[in-house]
Amino acid sequence: MRKRMLAGFAVAGTLALALAGCSTSTDGGEGDGGAEPAAGGDDVITVGFAQTGSESGWRSANTESMKAAFSEENGFELVFNAADNDPAAQIQAVRSFINQGVDAIVIAPIVEDGWEDVLQEAKDAEIPVILEDRTITASEDLYETWVGLDFKKEGETAGQWAAETFTEPTKMVVLEGTTGSAPANDRAEGFDSAIEGSPIEKIDSQTGDFTRDGGKSVMEGFLSKYGVDGIDLVYAHNDDMALGAIDAIEAAGAVPGEDIKIISIDAVHDGMQALADIVECNPLLGEKAAELVKAVVAGETVEKRTIVEDEAFDQEAAKAALPDRKY
Ligand code: AHR
Repeated sequence: MRKRMLAGFAVAGTLALALAGCSTSTDGGEGDGGAEPAAGGDDVITVGFAQTGSESGWRSANTESMKAAFSEENGFELVFNAADNDPAAQIQAVRSFINQGVDAIVIAPIVEDGWEDVLQEAKDAEIPVILEDRTITASEDLYETWVGLDFKKEGETAGQWAAETFTEPTKMVVLEGTTGSAPANDRAEGFDSAIEGSPIEKIDSQTGDFTRDGGKSVMEGFLSKYGVDGIDLVYAHNDDMALGAIDAIEAAGAVPGEDIKIISIDAVHDGMQALADIVECNPLLGEKAAELVKAVVAGETVEKRTIVEDEAFDQEAAKAALPDRKY
């Protein structure tokens, strides 16, 4: 039920890896933006959540965090959509939320560009929009607030580790995240600035779309083009692509972390088990996002940006943290 009260609109041991780290619901499922919100009482806040998809372990943890926070017990009716990493499908899901007349819309934007029109439509319909995880290039006037991570700093942390570790000429390939996404853009920029002046040479860079299969197939291409001896280092924008690269390196008869070093970002459980020194990208954004939605719907003024701090783990700290790791 619509309640319109808007007033104030806010990584190197054996394996030598750096990991810089990154819904109760009416579940619309992958690509289903058309689910109807269940009828709720006057106090229930109906929220449409446009998730990117289910591309990574990080994303699964983020979805779980959102679903847990936007529960019935917490006063929400959640209409969930995962767009399978398709920007057009995600915009369509947001339009569907507008047509359904939800109380608020939360978006984890797949890409940074192209949001102006649909956000203006939400604004015209007086439905507040809250961004979580990734940022966009559209004017801040078109959304209430954003909660997420400092992707540039994650890239810088991974780059600083690389610059300190590789003091001899080093040939690096990059597995980029989804083209046009904020984490792919910012992690590239942060890393590149941190390795400036170092002997690390970027010989190739392609997108693996943040997926394990994508990372594996791009790495197979790099290995066939440059050979095992032609690549010293892989920088992967997330764990899933790093894990795919490990599969490809092993299939080529080489030893990941010895013959070819790997730096990655996220610090999800599988990544931490396979990898060594870690900088995290925290996916547990649900609670803060739910708090912001409640405040915005109540007409309170909120901060325009909330950055959730990431942790860094060396090998020993990663081993100690694994048993209690929540994602
Ligand atoms: O936006 C956060 C990034 O999205 C995570 O680092 C990656 O695993 C996910 O797909």
